[in-house]
Amino acid sequence: MSVAIIGAGTMGAGLARRIAATGENVLLTGRDPTRIAMIAVDMPGDVKPGPISHVVQSDMVILAVPYSAAADALAEAGPLTGKVLVDISNPVGPERSLAIGMTTSAGEEIQKLVPQARVVKAFNTIFSELLGLKLSEPDKPPQVMFAGDHEFANHKVEELIRAIGFEPLDVGPLKNARFMEPVGVMMIELGYGLGRGTRIAPRFVEY
Ligand SMILES: NC(=O)c1ccc[n+]([C@@H]2O[C@H](COP(=O)([O-])OP(=O)(O)OC[C@H]3O[C@@H](n4cnc5c(N)ncnc54)[C@H](OP(=O)(O)O)[C@@H]3O)[C@@H](O)[C@H]2O)c1
Repeated sequence: MSVAIIGAGTMGAGLARRIAATGENVLLTGRDPTRIAMIAVDMPGDVKPGPISHVVQSDMVILAVPYSAAADALAEAGPLTGKVLVDISNPVGPERSLAIGMTTSAGEEIQKLVPQARVVKAFNTIFSELLGLKLSEPDKPPQVMFAGDHEFANHKVEELIRAIGFEPLDVGPLKNARFMEPVGVMMIELGYGLGRGTRIAPRFVEY
């Protein structure tokens, strides 16, 4: 499955590197073509730079921009009919609050913006620093939660999470992004507010 990424910040670039390391080709896109080309040229593997409008050529699109920029970025991407669209955002408001939540989520609002795409919420509960780490315990990697309403799309995201060395955790339909996003903000509070750093991740265990 070909992958495109919108946004080449810490998450977008980190995911591009990690996916390219599996041998997949990646289309890395953003609003500043010069900056995107400079980031892509330094990456090992097959990472090609391009404009956001080209993501339609890929089967899966990872939206790696701030939630506040999602509508603008998606307007440039087009309707993304049939595409798997991975929303990784945490809608963070002032003082590490949730900008939206309880009765909706960033994931659901993004699905409303592109109703023809198949949105999967994922990666919002792990820090970008983990994408760059060589994992010390490969048999017990960080868990990456995902939620979505489309079985095929969920399966493809689950495969991607596993392929890049993490443990997928299916947390149900897209409306459960309402619970994943507070977990993402809790991690930010733990990491930055309480000084635990960004080499941390939540883990679901059964006893
Ligand atoms: N950082 C983390 O550890 C982490 C963890 C989990 C989830 N997330 C989520 O991942 C997403 C990206 O976070 P990040 O930390 O990678 O942010 P970042 O380093 O600030 O990068 C943001 C990227 O979004 C692009 N962007 C901003 N506005 C845009 C627009 N209107 N159109 C197109 N591109 C635009 C920026 O491009 P320019 O260079 O052109 O400004 C930049 O490439 C956010 O939704 C965040 O909540 C982050």
